[in-house]
Amino acid sequence: MSKYPNFRLENKVALVTGAARGLGRACALALAHAGADVALGLRDVSTSADLVEEIESMGRRAIPLQMDVSSMEQIKSAVWEAIEVFSRIDILVNNVGVAPANPAEKVTEEDYDTTMDLNVKASFFTAQAVGRHMIEQGGGRIINMSSQAGFIALQDEAIYCTSKAAINHMTRNLASEWAKFNITVNAVAPTFIETPGTKPWLDDPEFKQSVIDRIPLGRIGKPVEVAGPVVFLASDAASLITGSVLLIDGGWTAR
Ligand SMILES: NC(=O)c1ccc[n+]([C@@H]2O[C@H](COP(=O)([O-])OP(=O)(O)OC[C@H]3O[C@@H](n4cnc5c(N)ncnc54)[C@H](OP(=O)(O)O)[C@@H]3O)[C@@H](O)[C@H]2O)c1
Repeated sequence: MSKYPNFRLENKVALVTGAARGLGRACALALAHAGADVALGLRDVSTSADLVEEIESMGRRAIPLQMDVSSMEQIKSAVWEAIEVFSRIDILVNNVGVAPANPAEKVTEEDYDTTMDLNVKASFFTAQAVGRHMIEQGGGRIINMSSQAGFIALQDEAIYCTSKAAINHMTRNLASEWAKFNITVNAVAPTFIETPGTKPWLDDPEFKQSVIDRIPLGRIGKPVEVAGPVVFLASDAASLITGSVLLIDGGWTAR
């Protein structure tokens, strides 16, 4: 172990799911900026040209992977392809998630299944596919995308909040099971961040102000403020951290 903490990711390979935009894109760019080559999990590979270009301009390698995480086949084939190209995966950022607003009394079985399948089932089986490889390779880092919604109740978001609480507990379970394989498993739990996913909500000035009023730091987050902690958890500097869910919430849940 080095005398000083090492935050760099040279010679590491990362796989980021849902990398096309929002937090996934910010994480992919930040990991590359810290030195990693990046496999980009995408629902539509045709959306990635500028992202690949930006990563390559940093002197890193990037490959777009067809990876709709609602398909078990695509999860498996994308992980296989990433390993074919890069020979390893050191870091998984399990980012994909959806948050349709839906009052509890109106939630249908289909709504429930869609959110739980994309947020929980897909994260579990992506972690499993990559985890099997990490076990063989002798270790790795898994970072799940949770939310402050895994800690607190958000209005009209019962299923989303439930799914993120499940992510938090899945993080602890996988951390506990896979510590013996030198795999750390952590999660990050952001507050409201400006992304294409939250734009329709934050475009409503009243809603936006109500969010800002709840955040002691008094502002909406930027994607890079989530990507930084993800890079930290992926780095050797975080070698003793596993089973943690790191809140990135400007103090929302501290009040
Ligand atoms: N933004 C926030 O305020 C916030 C706060 C807390 C937690 N989070 C969590 O952070 C994660 C990302 O949120 P975001 O705001 O960045 O979302 P976003 O702007 O909506 O972006 C989501 C990305 O995921 C991709 N995606 C959606 N379904 C997919 C699927 N089935 N397979 C593969 N990719 C898929 C989308 O692909 P396309 O580009 O093809 O549509 C898109 O690139 C989610 O887990 C969310 O719950 C976000």
